[in-house]
Amino acid sequence: SRRTLLKGSALIGAYGLGLAAANRFAEAGVAAAPLEIEAKTTTAILDGRNTTKNVFTYSLPGESSPMPPVLRLKRNAPFAARLINRLDDATTIHWHGLRIPNAMDGVPFLTQPYVYKGDHFDYAFTPPDAGTFWYHPHCSTLEQMGHGMTGLLIVEDPKDPVFDAELTLNLRDWRLGSDGQFIELFKPRDTARAGTFGTVRGANWQVEPRMQAPTGGLVRLRLAATDVTRIYNLKLDGAEAMVLALDGQPLAKPKPLDMAVVAPGQRLDLAIRMPDSEGQEASLVDLRPSTPKVVARFQAAGASLKRTLSDTPALQPNPFEEPDLGSAEHIPLVLSSTAENAARDSICGTLGYSFWAINKVVWPGDTPDPMAPLAELKQGRSYVFDLVNTTPHAHPIHLHGMNFKVVASSKGPVDPLISDTYLVLPDEKVQLALVAHNPGDWVLHCHIIEHQKTGMTSYIRVV
Ligand code: C2O
Ligand code: CU
Repeated sequence: SRRTLLKGSALIGAYGLGLAAANRFAEAGVAAAPLEIEAKTTTAILDGRNTTKNVFTYSLPGESSPMPPVLRLKRNAPFAARLINRLDDATTIHWHGLRIPNAMDGVPFLTQPYVYKGDHFDYAFTPPDAGTFWYHPHCSTLEQMGHGMTGLLIVEDPKDPVFDAELTLNLRDWRLGSDGQFIELFKPRDTARAGTFGTVRGANWQVEPRMQAPTGGLVRLRLAATDVTRIYNLKLDGAEAMVLALDGQPLAKPKPLDMAVVAPGQRLDLAIRMPDSEGQEASLVDLRPSTPKVVARFQAAGASLKRTLSDTPALQPNPFEEPDLGSAEHIPLVLSSTAENAARDSICGTLGYSFWAINKVVWPGDTPDPMAPLAELKQGRSYVFDLVNTTPHAHPIHLHGMNFKVVASSKGPVDPLISDTYLVLPDEKVQLALVAHNPGDWVLHCHIIEHQKTGMTSYIRVV
């Protein structure tokens, strides 16, 4: 039945074979047999009724590869994967939030050649940070991510505290017609505003999935917003939870979840204290834009473990080099709209419009002769990005390859969070500081993919 299926898939998400295979590989610590990740099309029931064709996914080895895929790596252990492209279009993989060598970053032309249909590309790196990350293509990004090609990427650390269970949520919507088939992925007039929203709200390729977890248990939920457009305002009904980490980076001290804003590209790790009676449910609710919407449900199963939420253990911090704010050089980054059309045709897709710019420069798309970098940073030096949003829309700005620390905002006091993706609110001025430790060309862009693909992309060079 659908119910047992759901139960099964939730458990596979947490403990499945994909995981075991990935772990075995990471433990071996050799690149002799890279994990094969196939980019391919498949079908899935996304709206709860119809079989949707042309769903794009990463398929991992093992018959019970979870859908959507969840990849598990080990911190400081070598990882190698071969991307095999069985799509009709070129693709690449970007490992969102991982601080890895530039050549492994997955940005066509800037860091690697795109991977044609039938071709493959070998990725190999050692993740330096533990936490909840994700991976997705960086070529024809709206088309491929819009059709589903995204996966959670979990980096485990032997020092990770043990929870009674672990659940994963890949939050994304779908643009489907009433027959359950994909419709046009964007409308230009929406692209020039907040972006084009899906018609079917989803989580883990289902509508309001119900996942089971131990009654009265402390459960770790790892969640990523992989939607191309939607910004979530999440709260939990029917249970209490602590925030463990934001964007893969642990909070020094877990704090009670009130409402969490999670924008495209961002992640949230929660410790949920499951209800005390079997069968009771807690639900994750999105409060945005106005009518609260249940995203997923967690149902208590088994006899109560009677855990105490205040016992929630803190996660180990990841290494982060403190920027020296006194000596830091400031780099202005102005987000604006534009009327200048610079869209250039490219093998990695163009939407054919330019609506957005960074420092008045419009990213023309992924081309063999990219524009000059925004700034050249010296390895080992501290920098502050002075980011100004002159538009009436919020933009989740993502930097590849390095983490930054949020140091100040015109919107009021900030938590000194470490992150790779910051949601810049309309009219906000924010300062993001970092030590330029990772050499190479690193893109930064809005993670509302229509904005990314219509100009709001640029890159910095660390030499
Ligand atoms: Cu998750 Cu360049 O992106
Ligand atoms: Cu944007």
